[in-house]
Parts: sequence; structure tokens; C-alpha cells
Amino acid sequence: MIAFGGDYNPEQWPEEIWAEDMALMKEAGVTLVTVGVFSWAQVQAGPDDFRFGWLDRVMDLLADSGVAADLATMTASPPPWLTRLHPEILPVRQDGTVLSPGGRQHFSPSSHVYRRYAAELVERLATRYADHPALAMWHIGNEFGCHVSASYDDESAGAFRGWLRDRYGDVEALNDAWSTAFWSQRYTDFEEVLPPRVAATYPNPAQQLDFARFSNDAMLACYQAEAAILRRITPAVRVTTNFLSLLKPVDVHKWSPHTDIAAVDCYPDPADPRSYLWAGLTYDIIRSARGGQPWLLMEHPTSAVNWRQVNVPQRPGQLRVTSLQAVAHGADAVLYFQWRQSRGGAEKFHSGMVPHAGPDSRIFTEVKALGAELAAVPGLAGTRISNEVSLLLDWESWWASELDSRPSALTSQPDALMSCYAPLFERGIGVDVVHPDADLSRYKVVVVPSLYLLRAATASRLADWTRAGGQLVVTFLTGIVDECDRIHLGGYLGPLAPVLGVTVEEHVPLPEGAHVTLAPSGTGTMWSERVILRGATAIGTFSGGDLAGEPAVTRHAFGSGTAWYLATRPDAATMAAVLDPALAAADVRPALGGLPHGVQAARRGPYLILLNHAAQAAEIRLPSPMVNAADGATVSGVALGPFGTAILR
Ligand code: GAL
Repeated sequence: MIAFGGDYNPEQWPEEIWAEDMALMKEAGVTLVTVGVFSWAQVQAGPDDFRFGWLDRVMDLLADSGVAADLATMTASPPPWLTRLHPEILPVRQDGTVLSPGGRQHFSPSSHVYRRYAAELVERLATRYADHPALAMWHIGNEFGCHVSASYDDESAGAFRGWLRDRYGDVEALNDAWSTAFWSQRYTDFEEVLPPRVAATYPNPAQQLDFARFSNDAMLACYQAEAAILRRITPAVRVTTNFLSLLKPVDVHKWSPHTDIAAVDCYPDPADPRSYLWAGLTYDIIRSARGGQPWLLMEHPTSAVNWRQVNVPQRPGQLRVTSLQAVAHGADAVLYFQWRQSRGGAEKFHSGMVPHAGPDSRIFTEVKALGAELAAVPGLAGTRISNEVSLLLDWESWWASELDSRPSALTSQPDALMSCYAPLFERGIGVDVVHPDADLSRYKVVVVPSLYLLRAATASRLADWTRAGGQLVVTFLTGIVDECDRIHLGGYLGPLAPVLGVTVEEHVPLPEGAHVTLAPSGTGTMWSERVILRGATAIGTFSGGDLAGEPAVTRHAFGSGTAWYLATRPDAATMAAVLDPALAAADVRPALGGLPHGVQAARRGPYLILLNHAAQAAEIRLPSPMVNAADGATVSGVALGPFGTAILR
């Protein structure tokens, strides 16, 4: 069955409320709750003062109520006594500002004192609850990297030097990798190296890139240290952490092999009519990160959040479609932040499953209805999604592509991804989002949105894949640098140029708001460049400015496959001129064609899930009769109300 529930923070409430919580959870069909994410100060009042009594009672209540616990390791917010005793664990910003306690996530990932206290707490938690009947899963930390993803303190500087020694061996290799001949930056000893703190001007870009790698590894080391303790004491209990798929500092591809199940938090903005596209991308990243395994939607809102400029609530009925979208993308759990809307604290205006108004409310009524609906489709859980199209995403390339001092500060990795994801989504084509070095053999179309940092080995694998019959679609700002952020000489695109049959001689980024016109039709924004044909055919050209008549969109037959290149950020029609023939050549079809705008159809195992993200009703005709999972009726069409959904088989 799809698990249903949310973050449960009973420590925020008097104990008398807990019994009501259990009764309401039963009413809502709650099966899984995340407990203790921010409970460190509640279970440990000093170095040797552990107070687990209240948590014992919570765990017992959950077990008695048949609710499973995703028990957190509580290490995301060190308690005040700890930062008083050891202020050296506090993180330091690039400019030297020490971040005070009082918020959360105020620890330097490299702090050995923080790690020692965290390890002790985890050891005690794991030992105490190892055999507790409520324990279903471990939840390490919370959204690593969300507020603090790096620290520039002296201990981190030392750890960074150790990391560099491991990576480069000797300082001359580091000098070479960091191009330190530039601006008199040559090092004679590793001890001279610092984190890229605020400097007189742009710090060395390769140093910044390595620091991003190091900081990701430092956070991962915190995670792994906790995971090792949990796996030793409770080897049969799954371990996870909640990612934010599109959080730049955390390389989900590198982390997820160290989880037993992937989990993600997602907060679509009800004020943004296209937020379901970002949610879809988030979910496709997390599903793909563990090879298509079902995953957990660990947190999402029942209505408004508290952290946007204006916190618009979800509209009546919208909760169902936003939650079921995760299921349509492969989730085996629909969990909210949080069970009971807080009475005090920074998130008191953040919605919950039980709002301030109490259970007699629109939100709790919608929560209950969805709980019942999910319970009625037990077969959905565990089913998989299989896609024939993938987008490539490499966190290291993302880090490198958005360093300071570059051709255009307008380009961004999320924008590049979305510019390719949205047209596929709108065509009803399901996609995986994988690392460039993942096994691509199951895909017929591979889309490469701005893979700025390109390793020669990756290019050669993409060449083999295309030669064997793949349809490769590549967008601008690809193949610019190697893994040390050094330019591929001889024309941009570097090692991928032979596959695409073009090289790029010169970048011509466009000012904000400007566009270029294309021939035979269409426009491009953000970017243009001087493309030299080296075997490819121009199927679109720039039609104005200094590049008039030069290639903007190209196609190149390569072995049994085809490689397409886009030298600007294209409008929808121009994107169609590439995607449609590529999809047709690969015979990739949507789950269901001809859908009204805003309606999504997704296949998951034997199920077809229809989601109306729009506030207008929609009539869907099915190519052949299907069974409606809600009532067992055989139907040949479905009427979806505003934000309506249907699960068919
Ligand atoms: C998440 C976080 C939760 C809560 C939520 C509010 O980022 O994990 O603890 O703060 O946001 O939207």
C-alpha cells in the first residue's frame, strides 16, 4: 500500500494531545510518520543527560495505533547546550560570519566535535529503539545542505587540504588542475591552500569547483557516519534521508547509492500555474537516482508554506492532484510536512494535516479523503515506471557552469533542464533524469541540457550510444570545459563535436529580454553562438544580427543514430522541430495522446494515472476501456473536474 502520513512533532504539544493525534491519524488513514527530526534538545539535555522517556511513550502509542515510524536521527539542529560548550562547531560563511545558533542546521559539516556528538546520539537511539515494533525506517539528518551546505572555518580548511592531498597527491598536480599560473596563484605547499573565502575578486574557479565537491563530500561523510552506526545496530532497517532534488550543493547521484530508498521533499508553489512541471522534474530526478525504484515523498505541503514572499494556499481540491502527482511519478509514500500545524515557532503559518482550525476543516477533510483513496488502490505500491527518454544531469557540471565570471550570468542549469523537460512533459513523454555516465542502453532518446563540464570518457560513451542508433539532443553550453574547469580547445563542444558534426567558434550571449529570430521560423533567447558545420546539416539558422545565415539548429547522422544541436534557447516551435523528429525516429509515444493543456497521463505498472493540474474541467477519452480503481467500473472515458484525478487499470 502507498504509505500515507507526515512529519510528526509531538514534542511541540502537551502529552494530552497525543491520544487525539492517534485517533485522528486513524481517521485519516495515516500509516507512516517521521518522528523526531528536530528533537535533539528534547532527548539530550547535556553531554550525559539523555531523556528518552517521552519518545518511548510516543513510539509505544504509534505501535499501538498501527502507525509505523520513520525515526529521525535528530542531528539536524544541535541543541543550545552543545553550541555553548563547543562554539567551534558553528558554520562560518565565506566572508567569515559565524552563523549563530537559534535557527537550525548550524553545524560545520567537517566539525569533528559535531560528528562525535551526533554519533553518540545515533548510537543511543539505534540501541534503544532497535527492537521497537514501531520502528520502520531511519531518517538521517534533514535536508542536508538546505541552509548550510559548506563552512569556511579553519577546521574545514584543514579538511579541504586533506581532501586535496587525496585527490592530487602532490601540489604540482593541484597547480596544474587549478591553472595557478594565472594571477600568480602557484602553491608550493598544500598548507598554503584555503577555502575560496571572500577574496579581492573572483576566487580561482577550479578551487571553487573543488570546494563544492569537497563540501558535498563533507556532508555525505556526516550522513555515512550515521548510516554506518544504524546499519551495524539495525541491519534490517532501511536508511534514508530527505533530499531536495534540485538543491545545487547536494549531488543526489553521488548520495543515493548510500540510501536504501530514495526520499524527497517538494513544495510546489500554488501561485505558479506551472509548478507541476517543477514537481514532475523533482520526482523524476529522485526516482531515477536509484534506478527507478519506488521512492518516498517525504514532505510536501497540505496547503500554504511560510517561507515565500506571499504564501498562497492550495485551492480547494488541489491537495489530491499535487499529492497524486508524486504517485504518478513512482512514489510509494505520500507524506506531508507536517501532521499538526505548529502553534508557535517559525513555521506556525505553515500548513499541516491538522490545521490550526482543527479537524473540522477543509484541509483535514481533504487529507482524510485522500488517505481513503490511496488505501483503496493497494496494488499501486511497488509498481514501476519505464521510460524511453532520459535527460542528463551532472551536479559537478552544474557547479562549474554557474561559477562567477562566465559568458552570461543569465544561464542556469535548472533553466536548461526545464527548457528540455517542459516540452517533453507537455507531449506526455515520461523521462528519467540520469547522470551522464549512467547506463543509457535502455533509452532511445537522450537529451543533454547544457552539459558544460564534459569528460572525454563521457563524450565517448555518448558517441557509442548514438552510433548504435540513439537520438541525441544537445543544447548550448555543452562541452565547454574538462573536470578541472579548463576549456576544451579547438572549438567548444570539445570531445562531443564529432558526434554532433559541428564545433562552436564563438559565444554570443544575448542581453536580458533580447531575442534572435531564426529561419525558417522561430526565435531564440538568452544565447546565440557561431556554429561551424563539420558534417551536420543546418535545419535552422540565425536570421538577424552578426550571425545571420549561420547555423542555429543542426542535425547530424552519426552511425545508425542522429545527433541534434540547439545553439540558442529555443521557443516551443523550434524545440518541436528537433524533439518531434527525434521522438518519431525512436518511435517514442506518450502514455495517452491528445490531452487538454494541464492534464497529465502517466503509466505506472498496469495503471494509468490521470491528473488535471488545471482549474478547468476536462473530458478524457480512452483508446480502449479501462477499469476505474475507485469504484471498479469499466469506463471508456473520464470526466475530470478542476484538479480532478483518476486511477485506471
Ligand atoms: C522543509 C523542512 C521541514 C520544514 C519544511 C517547511 O524544507 O525539511 O522541516 O521546514 O521545509 O516547508
